[in-house]
Amino acid sequence: MGEALRVDPTSFEFRHNSIAMYQRLLREQPVCELENGSVLLCRHADVSRALTDLDAFRRPYEWSMANKPEGPFREFGRNNMIAMNPPDNTRYRRAMARAFAPRRIAQMTTDIQTTCDMLIDRMAETSECDFIRDFALPLPVAIICQMLGIPIEDQHHFAEWSATILAGMEISSSATEKAAAETATTALFDYLAAIAETRRKDAGDDLISTLVEAADAEKLRRDEVVWGAITLLIAGHETTTHLLGNGMLALIRNPDQMQLLRARPDLTQNAVEEFLRYDPSVYVLFREAATDVTFDSVPISKGTLLVLSLAAANRDPLVFTDPDRLDITRPNAKAHLSFGAGFHLCLGQAVARVEARIAFETLLRRVGSIGLIHEPTPRDGLMFKGNHTMPVSYRMAA
Ligand code: HEM
Repeated sequence: MGEALRVDPTSFEFRHNSIAMYQRLLREQPVCELENGSVLLCRHADVSRALTDLDAFRRPYEWSMANKPEGPFREFGRNNMIAMNPPDNTRYRRAMARAFAPRRIAQMTTDIQTTCDMLIDRMAETSECDFIRDFALPLPVAIICQMLGIPIEDQHHFAEWSATILAGMEISSSATEKAAAETATTALFDYLAAIAETRRKDAGDDLISTLVEAADAEKLRRDEVVWGAITLLIAGHETTTHLLGNGMLALIRNPDQMQLLRARPDLTQNAVEEFLRYDPSVYVLFREAATDVTFDSVPISKGTLLVLSLAAANRDPLVFTDPDRLDITRPNAKAHLSFGAGFHLCLGQAVARVEARIAFETLLRRVGSIGLIHEPTPRDGLMFKGNHTMPVSYRMAA
């Protein structure tokens, strides 16, 4: 190995060329010490190990709280299950498990199909749209709102609040974005607290009612009902938007794969796994070493922050043949780490998979050809990847 690479993943250059940077790191320095003392892991085996060995690695709660001023955003950080380690995280997971049971997911397919068809009916009224604004965003918002039992007329507030909070969570976010995230967190908390109150009196078959029930059984605190609902909204909607957007972009840029998927709709489930592998919505996760450890003979001391690159792990040539190629027939596409791994494996993965399968099956059946009008505008961040806008023109199928 030559001189050690100097890498700053928060830099503009890295954020805008991350796949090329990860390819180079995989080749030259898969365990990469960063200038701020943290360590970036790129190999599939190393990222899997950091995600699954709960004795040696934990979510970096203290780090994620550092530099957050007292206020609603810090309060969310404190109560957000995605920042928590067991046993607090376990209470949340148990309380939510019923809502993600396979039977419940199966019941959602009709709603997903109806929403997809309605959005495509609207697309059919014209020959151009912004694929993100008009399809990839409203579908997951509608589904997460149905899961939570949020009235349809309030859904647009949700998309806005959630996008503002996510923007404020990025390492690269500005002071203005952080301040906007504070305001959005308060607005969302107050709104959901009012909904939870109505469910306490009149329970429904939705996730907020399930959380309220858990609070009544003293398994969750009352405020945790609201923080739990906020977490679901944040975790579940923009990630799925980017799965749909990144997947469509990958197909447009690889016309042979688009053609194959049109001819072989039975490949859609595997194609969704390949989209998740090829260009994941979540590029990095964070952990800290709970004990002294070694990766690739690099000693890492207890307390070190680890940046786990899911995007790099998904392109590790030791696991995926010809990893930079989009291949919807790839036999081990599902070995990606885009939903995390181990104890904290994404709770909503089955929902995201069903949504994406139905979306791509329906889009490719009903939309005859589709192409970019101009380049999409990428989201600027280290953690979440996708596009703000993606203008497309299309012709509906005969
Ligand atoms: C393509 C879509 C999605 C992607 C790529 C994704 C990705 C992830 C990842 C990487 C994690 C693990 C975080 C970690 O280990 O630190 C996670 C956790 C989680 N996800 Fe997802 N997610 C998606 C959709 C959803 C949906 C639709 C929901 C809910 C309806 C959801 C709810 C959650 C929750 C609650 C957790 C926390 C699990 C825990 O802390 O134990 N996700 N997700």
